[in-house]
Amino acid sequence: MESLRDAERVIATHFAQSDAPIVVKADRLMAGKGVQVCGTADEAVAFAATVGGTLVIERCVRGVEVSLHVLVDGAVCAPLPLARDHKRLLDGDRGPNTGGMGAIAPVRLPEGVSVDGLMDRCVRPIAVALASRGTPFRGVIFAGLMLDGANPTVLEYNARFGDPETEVLMPLIADDFVSHLLEPGHAAVRVHRGAAAAVVLAARGYPAAPETGRPIVGLDRVPDCHLFHAGTRREGSQVVTNGGRVVVVTARGDDVAEARARAYQGALRISFDGAQFRRDIGGVA
Ligand code: GLY
Repeated sequence: MESLRDAERVIATHFAQSDAPIVVKADRLMAGKGVQVCGTADEAVAFAATVGGTLVIERCVRGVEVSLHVLVDGAVCAPLPLARDHKRLLDGDRGPNTGGMGAIAPVRLPEGVSVDGLMDRCVRPIAVALASRGTPFRGVIFAGLMLDGANPTVLEYNARFGDPETEVLMPLIADDFVSHLLEPGHAAVRVHRGAAAAVVLAARGYPAAPETGRPIVGLDRVPDCHLFHAGTRREGSQVVTNGGRVVVVTARGDDVAEARARAYQGALRISFDGAQFRRDIGGVA
């Protein structure tokens, strides 16, 4: 949809009589804020007017969302562990969408579903088709999938890594990952046993208007975790907040429960005025 008038027409034609939620997406990068699941046609039109530009309007797809990252070199595809992002700001998947408040990997799949099956359905055909028409893709495909039982729907393809999925994927990789990037074409990436969980510490006001410039303490008191600085900067001898998502705390464990317990222990050692984080990352594995 290129104009608000088009959007109004499509919403009126396809959704006015239906009570199914309507998904309105901006067709550009919006730092996780370009999508709204709208309960009514009026809400959908209002959101379309707010974001403007080219829009995608879709029926709402229900299920469990998972992120499948695949290293692709022509027709050769090597999947990374399946990850799950937690996009809403608040516990229980409430509140506004964000760039991601935490992640886990691997995700336990429903009976009858495998990563290989998802690859065959959702990623390999794309890689094979691109290669066979002489336009091979080399890089990462990150497929956002919705699983309704054993039935996957592709929500989006990205030619980039997801965030905060990457923060749980990297610590699980047992190979030298850089060599996979420099010398692609491997059909598999070796990963560690167990799981990883990441908790995002965000600033007060995120995602609408995050506060910045707050001193962060405890960054040097977090053993057994990886700290990914997302929105920080140095100010003299201090590290201060400098964005909405400030620090991502990732830990590994034998399973998701152990990994999330360690990540939360780490997250609780870091503080800054107005810090907020979800308490239920990895609660639904
Ligand atoms: N975590 C979702 C994304 O990176 O788009």
